[in-house]
Amino acid sequence: MSKKYTVTSALPYANGPLHIGHIAGAYLPADIYVRYRKANGDDVLFICGSDEHGAAITLRAKKDGVSPQEIVDKYHSINKKAFADLGIKFDIFHRTSSELHHQTASEYFKNLEEKEVFTQKTSEQFFDEEHQQFLADRYITGDCPKCYAVGAYGDQCEKCGSALSPSELKNPISTLSGKTPIMKTTSHWYLPMQKHEAWLKKWIEEGVLDDKKHHDPKTWRSQVLGQCKAWIDGGLQERAMTRDLDWGVKVPVEGADGKVLYVWLDAPIGYISATKQWAIENGQDWKSYWQGDDVELVHFIGKDNIVFHCIIFPIILHAHGNYVLPTNVPANEFLNLEGEKLSTSRNWAIWLHQYIKDFKNQQDVLRYALCATSPETKDTDFTWKDFQARNNSELVGILGNFVNRVVVLTNKYWGGKVPRQRELTTYDKEVLQALKNTPVKIGESIERYKFREALSDMMSLARLGNKYLADTEPWKLKKTDEERTQTIINVALQLAASLSILSKPFLPFTAEKLAVMLNISETAWEQSTKQLLSANHQIEKASLLFDRIEDEQIESQLAKLG
Ligand code: MF3
Ligand code: ZN
Repeated sequence: MSKKYTVTSALPYANGPLHIGHIAGAYLPADIYVRYRKANGDDVLFICGSDEHGAAITLRAKKDGVSPQEIVDKYHSINKKAFADLGIKFDIFHRTSSELHHQTASEYFKNLEEKEVFTQKTSEQFFDEEHQQFLADRYITGDCPKCYAVGAYGDQCEKCGSALSPSELKNPISTLSGKTPIMKTTSHWYLPMQKHEAWLKKWIEEGVLDDKKHHDPKTWRSQVLGQCKAWIDGGLQERAMTRDLDWGVKVPVEGADGKVLYVWLDAPIGYISATKQWAIENGQDWKSYWQGDDVELVHFIGKDNIVFHCIIFPIILHAHGNYVLPTNVPANEFLNLEGEKLSTSRNWAIWLHQYIKDFKNQQDVLRYALCATSPETKDTDFTWKDFQARNNSELVGILGNFVNRVVVLTNKYWGGKVPRQRELTTYDKEVLQALKNTPVKIGESIERYKFREALSDMMSLARLGNKYLADTEPWKLKKTDEERTQTIINVALQLAASLSILSKPFLPFTAEKLAVMLNISETAWEQSTKQLLSANHQIEKASLLFDRIEDEQIESQLAKLG
C-alpha cells in the first residue's frame, strides 16, 4: 500500500469573514504543502470546512437577530468562495452543521461513552434566571483574574490571551440578560485527560506510540513541543465535553436533552466527516485516510489551536482506537498588521474578500507576501509597504522581469521558436546545475514545513536567471555571435520553464500564466529538474506576469484600517 497524506487546515468558525491572519496561519502553508505533494505524485487529501457550532455562533446570531443556521449559511459560502478565489484548493470544504457530520460525531461520542472514556459528573454552573438557561463560557463576561481587563470571556481573556474558566472571572455577568448569574447544578460528560498523561508524554516527547516509533519529535516545531510540554507538566485535568446549549450535536444519550457536544469535541471530528463526504462524492474509501498503517496525518493550525490538536483530539483518536495520530502539527505563530495585533472588533484586519475585490488578479501577490513573512517561528508583521515592495522589487523586478526578458527576446529574434543549445561555458553549466538542484532543495524545505525558505529558494533561481542575462547580455551578442546568443537564451528559457513548475505551490495563478506563455504542460515536480524545452518548440508572445503596485493603492488600503 502506498503512503497517504491526510492534510487538514483548522475549520474556520462560520461567524465572520476570513482575514490575512487566518490565511497566513493555517491555510496558505497547507495549500503550498499539498500542491507540492500532489506535484510530487503523493496521494494527498486536503480537508477543511466550516466550524458551525459553539457559543460564538449562537451569540453572533443573537446579536444580529437571526438564527444560527442563517449565520453559518452566510459565512460558509462567503468563506468557501474567498478560499477558492485565493487558490486555496481543498479537496473538500465541508461543514459541521451537515447531517453526515452530526451522525459521525454522534456515533463517535457513543463509541467513547461505551468504552467509558468519559466520566459523568454534576457541578454548579452559571445559570441565567431571567432566560432560564445555563450559560456557556462565552456567555459570561467579567474581569480577567490575570490582567484585570474588563469584558473577558468565560473561556478566554482576549486582552492578555489567558485561557480561563468562567468561575475564575471577577464580577461575572450574563451576556443574555446583563445580570449576575446564579449557580445551579447540571451534569456533564468529562474527559479525564490526566489518565492519558503517560502515553501522551511518550508520544509527544519521544515520538513513540504503543511501543512503536511514530514520528521524529525533532521534526516538530519547538514552540509546538514547548506548549505541549507546558500543558503536560502543568498537570492535565478533566475537561467537560458537553455543554448546555441548543445549537450543536445533541448528546446521544437518553435524558441528555438540552445538551450538545463541546464544540472542540465535535469540530475536529469534522475532519473525519469531511473525509467521509469526499469519499462518497468520489467513490473512495474514507478509512484509508484515517486508519491505515501508512497514513501521515498533518494538521495546519494557528498557535491558539495547539492544545486541541496535540492533546485533546489525539486523546480522542487514541481512545477510540483504529485511528492514526498526527505525525506533525506545524502550528504557526501570529501575524500582526502594521505593528498591531489583528482585531476584528477594531477592524484592524485585511479581509480576504475585500482584498480580492481591490486587487483583481493579484491573488499571488498576497500569497507571496504572506508566505515571505509567514510566522513560522515567531510572530511577524504584515505591512502594506512591505507588501508593495515585495511586489514591485521581487515579483515584478525579479521573477516577472526575468521571464519577460527571455520571452521577448525569443520572440524578437526567432519568432518565438526556442533556439538551440550549442557549446556550454562554465557559467552556462553552473546555471543548469542550479536548475537541477533547486527543486530538490525546495522540496526538502517544504517537507520540513519551512515555507519561507522554500519560497526564497524558488526566487533565488529567478534571481540567478536575471543575473545570468545581465552578465551575458545576449541582446548585445546577437549581432556578433548568433550561436552564443542562442545558447544563452536556451538556457534562460529552461530556467523559466522549470520555474513554471516550482512556482506553482506558492503562486498557482502565475505558474499557470507562465506555462501558457511557454506552451508547456508539464506539472510533475520531478520534471522541473530537467531541461523541458526542446529546440524549435514554439512559445507564445510575452505578457506581464505582475503589475506594479502604486503608492496610492497602498495609501488607500492604509486609510481603511481601524
Ligand atoms: N474554529 C476553530 C478556530 O477558528 C478551529 C477549529 S479546528 C478543528 O479556532 F479542529 F476543531 F476543527
Ligand atoms: Zn487578561
